[in-house]
Amino acid sequence: MPESQINLYYKNVTAEIIGSEHGITDAQLKTLAEKISPLILQLNKERKAGKTPYRDLPYNEKTVLKVKELTAELKDRPGYGRLRPDECENLVVLGIGGSALGNIALQTALNPYMHNLDDSQRPGPRLFVFDNIDPLQLASFLDWVGDKLDKTIFNVISKSGQTAETAAQFLIIRKMLLDKFGPKGLKNHVVATTDPKQGTLRKIADENQLPTLEVPESIGGRFSVLSAVGLFSAAMCGIDIDSLLEGARDMDKKVSAEDFYKNPAAINAAINYHFYNTGKRISVMMPYSYALKNLADWYRQLWAESLGKAYALDGSEVHIGPTPVKALGTTDQHSQVQLYREGPNDKLFTFLQVNNFDKDIKIGPAPDCAPEFGFLAGKDLSLLLNSEKKATEYALLQSKRPCLTVIFPQVNAYTVGQFIYLYEVTTSFAGALFGINPYNQPAVELGKEAAFALMGKTGFKKLAQQIQPLTEVDGDFLV
Ligand code: PA5
Repeated sequence: MPESQINLYYKNVTAEIIGSEHGITDAQLKTLAEKISPLILQLNKERKAGKTPYRDLPYNEKTVLKVKELTAELKDRPGYGRLRPDECENLVVLGIGGSALGNIALQTALNPYMHNLDDSQRPGPRLFVFDNIDPLQLASFLDWVGDKLDKTIFNVISKSGQTAETAAQFLIIRKMLLDKFGPKGLKNHVVATTDPKQGTLRKIADENQLPTLEVPESIGGRFSVLSAVGLFSAAMCGIDIDSLLEGARDMDKKVSAEDFYKNPAAINAAINYHFYNTGKRISVMMPYSYALKNLADWYRQLWAESLGKAYALDGSEVHIGPTPVKALGTTDQHSQVQLYREGPNDKLFTFLQVNNFDKDIKIGPAPDCAPEFGFLAGKDLSLLLNSEKKATEYALLQSKRPCLTVIFPQVNAYTVGQFIYLYEVTTSFAGALFGINPYNQPAVELGKEAAFALMGKTGFKKLAQQIQPLTEVDGDFLV
């Protein structure tokens, strides 16, 4: 599908466009090419040695088969007391971080906006992803789903199998299912996606003979969307996972290219690295497409958890990492662009642009009393959206702000697969340039442990005592 290739456009970060004070010069790009070229070879070597297993996910036929078998089985379980064809009306994902953001991004990108509300627009069950533990939000949902449990599957996703938020959600729905259906409730209505061998969720799944899918070992949550973590809910909801993975595989060829100037992930990482080092430490991703909105959210986690690190690989203290920000065109033109143009010139912008929308809408005629709306009349809504993108880009360039664009010929599973893989490998390159390990998240762990301590988990008493003086409200400071 060569006409469906996404591209990274980088002319508008160059000195030729925004001047040498803020733009990148040919000489600087050449220096970056020299710095990153050996890293391309290094990353390719590490990948061959199995050190970056996420790179192989798009080739994992076994997982795809398992996901497809389970999807078919759950939609068709005659005589087993499970859901029969058409009967799975609701799929509920329980997970957080890397165990949720990819699922949300795929659904928003590849299924219609009204998927959950309009039966005629949905090719699979409604999808609800709970990546939070707000009691009001969950209570409202449980009130709704309570009398529909017979038509609902819960996919609980946790690599570690012990994240407090996901565990709490699971315990809530476990009780509901047991109360309503008895012991069979769990087996018939829960799919557990977790580590193949360890963790509390694995123990519960094995004990209750739940259908399970695996989060591959050594792949962190934010790199796992192309594993069963993201593929199962996508397949259940009618997304073409074969095209998604084909897109990732085709991008793999590009991001493995040894020639820096032909490798979009290397160029993307190099540009981001350059601007970070020249004072533009905020990276704004701004899709001009509602469908791509949550890919920016997925990117935000990928970039932040992977690159925000206290220590370099050599052990030195660095406290490094660009701050990713998501914005949406055109909505945030009316909220953020004043700051983006006139505030500090400390940001690199990445627009996501769609050339052809699957559906378009003609703008209606202007009323006789308002001929000044005539410039809109009869035009495609997508023309207005893409003109607004160009307009914002132009305005930012006038203010000497560097702008990248990822161009999507269309939004489909094939192009979204390319995008995901492009950004995962860009993150690996950026990690290598910053000299840090992009695959761990040590700083997240302390918060998780502190939550265990506050909730009284065995073994965390001392930590609970340390937390108390720092977090208890001191009335002297209340105004
Ligand atoms: O990227 C990551 O590793 C994290 O965001 C995890 O996905 C998140 O903390 C949830 O962890 P788990 O899947 O173990 O419940």
